[in-house]
Amino acid sequence: MIELALGTAQFGLSYGVAGRGHVVPEDEVRAILRRARQLGVRVLDTAAAYGDIETRLAGLAGDAPFSVVSKLPALGGACAADTDDFVKAAIQRTRAKLGSLLSAILFHRAEDLLGVHGGAAWQACDVDGANRDLRFGVSCYDAETLDRICERVPISIAQLPGSALDQRLHGEPSPSRAKVEIHLRSVFLQGLLLLPEEKATARVPSSSPSIARFHSWCRERGLPWLDAALGLAKGLPGVRVCVVGVDSQAHLEAIAAAWETVPALHAPALATADLDVIDPRRWSTIS
Ligand SMILES: NC(=O)c1ccc[n+]([C@@H]2O[C@H](COP(=O)([O-])OP(=O)(O)OC[C@H]3O[C@@H](n4cnc5c(N)ncnc54)[C@H](OP(=O)(O)O)[C@@H]3O)[C@@H](O)[C@H]2O)c1
Repeated sequence: MIELALGTAQFGLSYGVAGRGHVVPEDEVRAILRRARQLGVRVLDTAAAYGDIETRLAGLAGDAPFSVVSKLPALGGACAADTDDFVKAAIQRTRAKLGSLLSAILFHRAEDLLGVHGGAAWQACDVDGANRDLRFGVSCYDAETLDRICERVPISIAQLPGSALDQRLHGEPSPSRAKVEIHLRSVFLQGLLLLPEEKATARVPSSSPSIARFHSWCRERGLPWLDAALGLAKGLPGVRVCVVGVDSQAHLEAIAAAWETVPALHAPALATADLDVIDPRRWSTIS
């Protein structure tokens, strides 16, 4: 059973291709988190790199017993000895900020586990010792990278992108990935899938043919874009948690209502392998 989770990048950064251009105000974040709990959301996704939200999150969550997944900052060019210190210190900082809410830590930069010091970085997590109360994993941009990491270190959780246009998860899963809990992100492509067609293609011109196909598919079925995006996310195989980003309580209400009713959908014809469309790092956006 796939479960809905809430991302927090929007709460700490001016985020996304369709974003409102500033961080979500603190009162709104409090209200969103309160409502999320009422709606049954248990998991929050955050990171040391999302502005100061990792620091503020526990306070904003109040008494709500969320389970928080956070991410370590990128290692950069650390050497082996530095790697050990860097990772241990980063874990301690995240623990101090999130306390008992913290349930898992991901390497934000997948390459940090694949590089020459990847083994040292993993050892520093001390998954069977000091940090055995936490789960450790990685955030990736594609499943092939995840498979390479699984062959190297025994991670138990990973975050991957997937959406109506990015259906790469339908590919053959490697056996090494079988025990990894998959958290999906980017189901609205930072909100691109929920913008009117003209606005979306004006913001990300490379997405034009794919967005046109998505809109006509929704029109033919009388499906709102939100329902289609969530249904197609539910249809991706092997996903345990679906992380969505919201800028307001109204967004959350709309997502929760659609999530409740929409079935898992399949539309292979909407998939594209064009990274200029499905990888936001490659977007040359026009605002
Ligand atoms: N590990 C990583 O490297 C990584 C990278 C990206 C994201 N993440 C995580 O994933 C979370 C979600 O980010 P994402 O990129 O995956 O975003 P997303 O969920 O694909 O899209 C979120 C955006 O969709 C729009 N939206 C949401 N609900 C809506 C509604 N009901 N009606 C209209 N528009 C709506 C909002 O944008 P507007 O209001 O601005 O239109 C919102 O900011 C982040 O908060 C973060 O925790 C992780």
